[in-house]
Amino acid sequence: MEKIENQIKSLKQELATALAAAKNEQALEAVRVDFLGRQGHIAKLMESLKTASLEEKRVLGPLLNELKQQITQLYTEKKEALISQILQQQLFKKQYFDVSASLANQTPAHLHIYTQLIQELENIFISMGYKIADGPEVETEFYNFEALNIPKDHPARDMQDTFWLTLPNMLLRTHTSNVQVREMEKQEPPLAIFATGRTYRHEAIDAKHDILFSQGEVLMVDENISMANLLATAKTFLQAIFDKKDIKMRVRTGYFPFVEPAVEIDASCPFCTNGCSVCKKTTWIELLGAGLVHPNVLKCGGINTEKYSGFALGFGLERIAMIRYGINDIRLFHSSKIPFLDQF
Ligand code: DAH
Repeated sequence: MEKIENQIKSLKQELATALAAAKNEQALEAVRVDFLGRQGHIAKLMESLKTASLEEKRVLGPLLNELKQQITQLYTEKKEALISQILQQQLFKKQYFDVSASLANQTPAHLHIYTQLIQELENIFISMGYKIADGPEVETEFYNFEALNIPKDHPARDMQDTFWLTLPNMLLRTHTSNVQVREMEKQEPPLAIFATGRTYRHEAIDAKHDILFSQGEVLMVDENISMANLLATAKTFLQAIFDKKDIKMRVRTGYFPFVEPAVEIDASCPFCTNGCSVCKKTTWIELLGAGLVHPNVLKCGGINTEKYSGFALGFGLERIAMIRYGINDIRLFHSSKIPFLDQF
């Protein structure tokens, strides 16, 4: 009996210490469970009373009940004090909230430079009556090379270092020209399509080369399509993309197996008339590969070459953006660098 009485005394002391130490709601709850919970100190003392004599019960019973009440009251008081303290802290925070404090620098969201450029390019070609097309990035050797008059072992394949997949005859497309025969197969001429997309080449990466870049591809097939149609389209496109009516074009012979004749088209530098850093003092900027679609390619697409002819034109998206915005490193496009992206 004496033992239990002592326990009752020391419990009060223990509770006082535990309550004083409880600085938040979780800690307070742990104290409650420890003292008043079903397995807590009080419950254990009550349990031990079961085996006590009737006389002991008479003395200890009321003592224990009193203890329980006291403990419950101390706990409740502490809880109320804690809650009011928390409320006061919250109020303090609100009261002294500085509405004039400047916000940390925020970057408003906007479209990626690629998306902006693609939308702009698509609008230019849509305004000329073109349909937007799309092709797969994981492509067969057929659509990327053979259908474009580049047979196996043809030296022209060396122009485009290729990522071959472990799947037979599959690769990552090296150019968007893969959409050409795919589109010819889909519909009869007249055909006027514009496609953009990612392209891949197994290159050493530097400021001018990346293994992943983007291209735009233009294809028109109809009766009597000639070099005149190609040059007029190229000119309209260059005028629109550089927003300059008096842009001049220079046409040089080129070599792409899927067009004959093949040409490379330069634009007069949009920034100068007598040489600057963008045109490397030449006043010309190389921009487009183009030509009249080779009959072998038309045939591959199931097109009657007696009746129809076509032109095709391709260019690099990054190159257009680099010239327009004076970007000197192609790697920036995929760098996810906010200060770079933020500018567009
Ligand atoms: N596919 C060529 C390349 O990636 C670019 C090109 C040249 C596309 C001539 C064309 C074209 O449509 O007619 O280098």
